[in-house]
Amino acid sequence: MKTIRLKNKQIDYPILIGSNLYKDIGKICKKYLEKNRVFIVCDITIYNLYKDEIHTSFKKTKIECVFIPIGVSEKKKNINTVASLSSKIIAHSVDRKDTIIALGGGILGDIVGFTASIILRGINYIQLPTTLLSQVDSSVGGKTGVNNIYGKNLLGSFYQPKLVIIDTNVLKTLPKRELLAGYAEIIKYGIIKDTKFFQWLQKNGKKVIEGNTNARIYAIYRSCINKSQIVEADEKEHGIRALLNLGHTFGHAIESLNNYKKNIIHGEAVSIGIIIATKLSYVEGHINKITCDKIINHFVEIGLKISMPKNLKKITPKKFISEMIKDKKTVNKEITLILIKRIGEAFIQKKYSQNKLIKLFTEITT
Ligand code: GLY
Repeated sequence: MKTIRLKNKQIDYPILIGSNLYKDIGKICKKYLEKNRVFIVCDITIYNLYKDEIHTSFKKTKIECVFIPIGVSEKKKNINTVASLSSKIIAHSVDRKDTIIALGGGILGDIVGFTASIILRGINYIQLPTTLLSQVDSSVGGKTGVNNIYGKNLLGSFYQPKLVIIDTNVLKTLPKRELLAGYAEIIKYGIIKDTKFFQWLQKNGKKVIEGNTNARIYAIYRSCINKSQIVEADEKEHGIRALLNLGHTFGHAIESLNNYKKNIIHGEAVSIGIIIATKLSYVEGHINKITCDKIINHFVEIGLKISMPKNLKKITPKKFISEMIKDKKTVNKEITLILIKRIGEAFIQKKYSQNKLIKLFTEITT
């Protein structure tokens, strides 16, 4: 098992990465709990797959576990779900020594983290991510939240978990489409700050998708180290944490214009968004054609999505840009973009003329 410690003056928690960890989950969690009780929030599929193994493990350590299965989808990621989940938890007479466990993918982790941050003004929670995307990105760093009719993740909080446990075994039952969606977030770290990791992925990326356990553990470990370093330096996203949003401003606009329909899942929208950011970086003269092609070729080789879904091709650049403006990073209607200087270095681009962006957008998407 590999351990990363996310630590700065305010934060300190471990991220444990290994395979076959659920059988010892009770023992692993015990020292982070203040009571012999946990609430495990998960979706129905995950509940059916892992409830027995997890229940047995907690029972061995004499910890009561209360499972709370909920319906999870991007459409249900809203304040109503937070309200009903809070009620289900509060109904058990919770106090501030209780702990909630988020057992699931990114959407579930965001909902549960946000709910934990507001129950009694904040109770403990642990992240047990079950998708590649949530293992390499959303379970680490304490961003929690839900969507609002005006856009994605517009309601939320920064609220750190007590512990993150990443078991690569759960990836064995994950559909390939979900693995590819998660890979888009992995490659992001190579592009924004880790040249060597990008090179490693060029050689080993296929193994990560195909199921090689060591390759998966290494890719997750490297991703979590990169993410931890950024969060340690800038937890509340006043500066460099924004780099983690490479491709996301475009991606969130795609998801929102698509009404969060399942033909495009989050990681796929991010994948297309990173390609748009790469092309924009090239058109703007920040990277050369060789670098631009190197990034795109890797996406193609792995089988990631690189172009807009057919149903969105008719969207005008103006409409797309007005959707992008709803991004959390927008200030005074100025969109903040993350662009690329070289593989291993991204930067924040704040000043942008709308006309220029419209022209570039038309070139890029047609
Ligand atoms: N997923 C981007 C961040 O955690 O900052």
